Amino acid sequence: MTNSDNDWWRDAVVYQVYPRSFADADGDGTGDLRGVRDRLGYLGRLGVDAIWLSPFYTSPLHDGGYDVADYRDVDPRFGTLADFDALVADAHALGIRVIVDLVPNHTSCEHPWFREALRGIGRDRYIFRDSATGGPPNDWESIFGGPAWTQVEDGQWYLHLFDPTQPDLNWEHPEVRAEFRDILRFWLDRGVDGFRVDVAHGMVKAHGLPDVGPKEGRQAEMLGDETVPYFDQDGVHEIYREWRPILDSYPGGRMAVAEAWVSSPARLARYIGPDELHQAFNFDFLLAGFDAKSFREVIDKSLTEARIVGAPTTWVLSNHDVKRHVTRYGSLARARAATLLMLALPGSAYLYQGEELGLPEVLDLPDELREDPAFRRTGDSRDGCRVPLPWSGTAAGGFGFGPPGSAPPWLPQPESWAALTVEAQDRDPGSTLNLYRRALRIRREHPALGGGTLTWLASPEEVLALQRDPGLAVVVNTGEQAVALADLGLAGRVLLASEALDDEGVVPPDTTVWVQL
Ligand code: NOJ
Repeated sequence: MTNSDNDWWRDAVVYQVYPRSFADADGDGTGDLRGVRDRLGYLGRLGVDAIWLSPFYTSPLHDGGYDVADYRDVDPRFGTLADFDALVADAHALGIRVIVDLVPNHTSCEHPWFREALRGIGRDRYIFRDSATGGPPNDWESIFGGPAWTQVEDGQWYLHLFDPTQPDLNWEHPEVRAEFRDILRFWLDRGVDGFRVDVAHGMVKAHGLPDVGPKEGRQAEMLGDETVPYFDQDGVHEIYREWRPILDSYPGGRMAVAEAWVSSPARLARYIGPDELHQAFNFDFLLAGFDAKSFREVIDKSLTEARIVGAPTTWVLSNHDVKRHVTRYGSLARARAATLLMLALPGSAYLYQGEELGLPEVLDLPDELREDPAFRRTGDSRDGCRVPLPWSGTAAGGFGFGPPGSAPPWLPQPESWAALTVEAQDRDPGSTLNLYRRALRIRREHPALGGGTLTWLASPEEVLALQRDPGLAVVVNTGEQAVALADLGLAGRVLLASEALDDEGVVPPDTTVWVQL
């Protein structure tokens, strides 16, 4: 890393751990914090700078833990606070930073505040309304489908932009604000290096909760860019201006990254800067198709907007909410090519557990095993990217997710994953795991990678060619014809290629190469 300690996040590679599906130390079929701690050596060897832990807090897990019942404790299925502290200590000893997920838009329905609210106490911490019509108070829809309102016994309705088990908090209430300032401090005091802020664009709703009005299709979708009165309201920025001094008051560069679905890179840039958050996920890159034109447009727009606010860009191809990029692009070759493009761009990159193994989405899970609350309401399910990681062995042995004799993993792993285990890929020099390891090592060592700028080089329409200074060119061939480096005016040694090359001078379709000029 080239950045100072405080700026470590500017070009960091952050690995997202979905604790439920990463590694199971206690053998109950659900991943846990001890499992993560046991595998820190694996992550160190992979070469990541930080891990981001998806929620591990006390939760009924109606939305995989994005429904928090106690923001200051670990769910017993994931371990204890002592396990968390030990994980942070060990990670730091290995030079790996730890980011935790913060879920401020809504709590679980099992949070003590909501239990009280149901008994008529402190309802104004949530968004309860009467309705004169007999139906919901307005026309807002849940992101998981259906109305965003549920009626309680005494006739009032409460707002939930997600599942009914995830009531939205009222961020106009000073107690809510004070509580989250305190939660930030609680985890900062335990040594976390940062926060990923869930639904960072959602906490403040338009005054008077106005109707959206008629719309074709769904009102708003996950990672979408719709303008609606419940997202991206100016008031959210006040919250981040309250949080930033808290983060800055701790040593060592504590940061926050926004998960914000907004209408443009310019709107996204408003979340970042010296008095708000440090980064925001750039989902436009993830949503781009595998073609040179789309990639280039998104890269240009993202870099321009980030430059205006003086912040680094982030890049991400997969996470626990979207179809894995192997399946989205239709092939492992394309996924590997897109990854090498991403890792060569200026800024920081977020990886999702299992992408380093080239895991595809599991498409054929039996319906009765699917747990995503969206599945029951819309038929769409995110379970297929959350299947536990295959570490070793064969299907019959449970792929080493837990110790021998463990309960089966909470979602079944396909038999075809026998060839994709960490154990199998570790010894195969051409494996996706070893490609990621090499890419991350070169990224760390090469002076052109990490921060810096990018210059586009002349190339045919279906090829991206770019230069990173000093001395590195990146060529991504998204077309159907091979392209010769000489025809692009690039003479140099191939440092890394996403596919084995027959001829060092020729880039086949669906392939990215890094060339030392
Ligand atoms: C975004 C999270 O990434 C997703 O998993 C969750 O369902 C929603 N926010 C609601 O918290």
